[in-house]
Amino acid sequence: MRIGVVGLGYVGIVTAVVLADHGNHVIGINRNRQKSEQLAKGIPPLHEPQLKELLNKNLRNFTFSTDYESLKDAEMVFLIVPTPTVKGKIDLSYITEASMKVSEVNKNAILVIKSTVVPGTAKMIAGRTGMVVVSNPEFTKEGSGVDDTAHPNRIIIGASDKQAGDAVESVWAFTKAPVLRTNNENAELIKYASNSFLAAKISFINEIANLCEKLPGCDVEVVAKGMGLDERIAPYFLKAGLGFGGSCFPKDTKALASFAKEKGERMSIVEAAIKVNSNRIDHVIAQAKEAAGRDLSGIRVGVLGATFKEGTDDLRESQALKLIQKLKKMGAAVTVYDPITKAIPIKGVGMAETKEKCIEGSDIVIVATEWKDFSDAGKYAGSRPIIDARRIAGQSGNIRSVGLGK
Ligand code: UGA
Repeated sequence: MRIGVVGLGYVGIVTAVVLADHGNHVIGINRNRQKSEQLAKGIPPLHEPQLKELLNKNLRNFTFSTDYESLKDAEMVFLIVPTPTVKGKIDLSYITEASMKVSEVNKNAILVIKSTVVPGTAKMIAGRTGMVVVSNPEFTKEGSGVDDTAHPNRIIIGASDKQAGDAVESVWAFTKAPVLRTNNENAELIKYASNSFLAAKISFINEIANLCEKLPGCDVEVVAKGMGLDERIAPYFLKAGLGFGGSCFPKDTKALASFAKEKGERMSIVEAAIKVNSNRIDHVIAQAKEAAGRDLSGIRVGVLGATFKEGTDDLRESQALKLIQKLKKMGAAVTVYDPITKAIPIKGVGMAETKEKCIEGSDIVIVATEWKDFSDAGKYAGSRPIIDARRIAGQSGNIRSVGLGK
């Protein structure tokens, strides 16, 4: 098939590469000429496992362009453009703009919305463009995007046009994943409900972690493990820590809460999940203060990790960055080490070349991202306290773990 992919961010480029790897010719459209030129040479614009290899293996199955004209022969066009939350509300301008541009060059293609959008969006886009629109939300995680796209848990296809739904289903048939066929609105809401549920699961375990800290002998890791053995609960997304960040959970939880409010409904569990999550930063700072025995002004704090999670170079909505910002505001002298990111968008923060240097130049260390590389942080700490806000560093000597009762 000739398949267009509009938007080559984390999800777009991963989807494009997986589709090309399964025999399709992919026309990748994005606004940045330099990015297109680099991609055509096999150089991906972002860090994601397997991406570079698959891109290079399939280079001849790609056309990269900034010009929507290149989509004129496409049979299907995936829209994978951002849907940011602006002032607590979803901003659909990228979707509307991109879909109009596609419709100007090729109205016959099936338009597939992969971006996360509120229910009613596909219908609205179909009305504006006159195109057949299928909703096909994605469930890939950064850091394992290629695997998640090629081997998903499920494929959700929302379509009012049966043939168009069949065509999208056939594109993903190689995954052998269970398929749910439904209407556009259900497909759109399934994505929000899924992300919000996972976010709520994380906030729930983080509240249990707070309780564990007040209970000598209790350990949230063991509690989560025991809970996860119940297959109704499942062990996933029960890792207590600094909370959720990234380009999806923070924006999607807020968008769902505000969308529901507009419809006269209150998503009180989702609202609570957002609140619990934003309190994580203060919680960890309180632990650092307690370990320091005073406020943090003038204290040298080494922060291990800057990205929103391990396995990615993505800093968007990173809890680690929020923590760093707050520490700076309190007058701490902050040095950061991250295995992938060598610069962060916060002024006046030192970047250490190695984790050893970051630890050794600090009075207190906070592990803020769950990189496996930090599992031996205790080895370099000497008598310095380590606040392990991601439960990755084990339990030796001066390590103080989130969710562990003393
Ligand atoms: C998330 C969803 O997991 C995907 O299914 C979805 O497709 C994607 O959003 C999206 O909407 O595009 P992602 O944001 O890439 O994926 O990363 P996650 O692995 O879900 O992690 C999100 C945040 O939650 C990270 O900051 C991570 O550190 C945190 N987290 C995750 C925890 O604190 N505890 C956990 O148990 C799991």
